[in-house]
Amino acid sequence: MVSTPFSRLANLVAGTLLLTTADTSGRYWPKVGVSARDVPALAQVIDQKTFNVLHKVPSPAVANGRSQFIPPGTTKESLFAKPFHVYDEEFYDIIGPNPTLTLLNQSGTNPRFHEAPVWSPINDEMFFAQSAGDPAAGTGLKKSAMIQKIALSEVTTAVSSQRSANGTVRVQFVAPTPEIINPNGGTNYRNRILIVGEGQGDSVAPAIYLMHPNAPYNTTVLLDNFFGRQFNSINDVAINPRSQEIYFTDPTYGYVQDFRPAPGVQKQVWRFNATTGAVGVVADGFNMPNGITFSPNGAFAYVTDTGIIQGNFGDNFTFPSTIYRYNVQDDGTFESRKVFAFLTPGVPDGIHVDTKGNVYAGGGDGVHVYNPAGKLVGKIYVGGTSANFQFAGKGRMVILAETELYFATLAAEGAFPGQMY
Ligand SMILES: *[C@@H]1O[C@H](CO)[C@@H](O)[C@H](O)[C@H]1NC(C)=O
Ligand SMILES: *[C@@H]1O[C@H](CO)[C@@H](O)[C@H](O)[C@H]1NC(C)=O
Ligand SMILES: *[C@@H]1O[C@H](CO)[C@@H](O)[C@H](O)[C@H]1NC(C)=O
Ligand SMILES: *[C@@H]1O[C@H](CO)[C@@H](O)[C@H](O)[C@H]1NC(C)=O
Ligand SMILES: *[C@@H]1O[C@H](CO)[C@@H](O)[C@H](O)[C@H]1NC(C)=O
Repeated sequence: MVSTPFSRLANLVAGTLLLTTADTSGRYWPKVGVSARDVPALAQVIDQKTFNVLHKVPSPAVANGRSQFIPPGTTKESLFAKPFHVYDEEFYDIIGPNPTLTLLNQSGTNPRFHEAPVWSPINDEMFFAQSAGDPAAGTGLKKSAMIQKIALSEVTTAVSSQRSANGTVRVQFVAPTPEIINPNGGTNYRNRILIVGEGQGDSVAPAIYLMHPNAPYNTTVLLDNFFGRQFNSINDVAINPRSQEIYFTDPTYGYVQDFRPAPGVQKQVWRFNATTGAVGVVADGFNMPNGITFSPNGAFAYVTDTGIIQGNFGDNFTFPSTIYRYNVQDDGTFESRKVFAFLTPGVPDGIHVDTKGNVYAGGGDGVHVYNPAGKLVGKIYVGGTSANFQFAGKGRMVILAETELYFATLAAEGAFPGQMY
């Protein structure tokens, strides 16, 4: 073993004893951590041991859920230069030998690339929505956020081999009939695209819409009330893969962003059976229930709580920035809420799983990737907020980063990004 070249040794003992290092007392400790084996060109290992002790740790006024943490020995530029950050060697299988990250478009100050990414396999297109309620978008009360799409056929190998292909892919506006008001979440459903809207003012209630993926984007409203009462501002939606029922989250972002009235119902997770029309609640006890998804076999549901962000009421860093996991019973009810992960910087907003059950959440510096036990194994770093992202089948991902649109390639395959129920 002694004469084995380092990279081979690392492969043999990956994750255990890699090399030794002297601490300040001169004693040698085994360096346990991520192996440096065959690090892909656009990846870098982030050794968490290098910042377990910082000696000077800034106060919460400086280092909090809004601030970017730049690990010692790195810079924002070096983090972005190799944007696939390996926190645990399990990430190598997720990214594969040659992951790529490409900037597709920048929209200046207007957050056009925000939420509701839905991959439509019929035309190989990715739909998504502009931010509703962000003052920089001018959306919310006066006008609705827009739905847009890109054709993945335009994202060629030539495009993805570059770090910036700014402007080479068309971003097209989608105008459904009737209009979808302040869209914020979406998923595939019955060969159509299901989109949830946050509503507008007192009179446009939040709703679940079903949109045809082809122009003229004929749309049907599926649900807009609970026994005559408005929802607050429906935020995100997922389909239970075992029952095909529609599950959605209803925080109060429309209210705290000044485009919906004071909340009239508890912030909770609902389910809707589109066959019978039955609407019920599966979980409450949230501050701001936000993203939702199911594990590939439907045994678990993941719900994010973005309570830290209170819109015009400011941030409160004592509130959740948390992914919760539930056991999903055969009858579709949720049981045994468990804390799955707490995320920094930012909040875990959109959430998706791959076919192996790894969990991906959009955060304040990019996409954070957790193994099924809730361990952070890696990040796709974009240097700013990614509220949501979506797989486009195997090995492709579109990342929405507010004023930036990215395309990534990696080894993993999304669990049901384009599944047609
Ligand atoms: C992308 O294009 C926009 C608009 O032309 C420009 O403002 C921006 O600097 C470009 N960004 C990069 C990284 O090239
Ligand atoms: C981004 O997309 C829009 C819409 O297609 C386009 O007008 C704009 O030029 C694109 N940005 C760049 C930098 O090309
Ligand atoms: C679109 O129009 C057809 C024909 O009127 C209708 O049957 C369908 O439900 C509409 N909605 C969607 C989402 O396709
Ligand atoms: C809806 O409810 C009915 C009756 O309980 C059930 O048979 C069906 O599987 C449920 N799911 C969907 C998606 O309709
Ligand atoms: C955060 O929320 C807690 C609990 O409601 C409250 O006591 C505290 O004053 C809040 N902090 C800020 C900065 O709003």
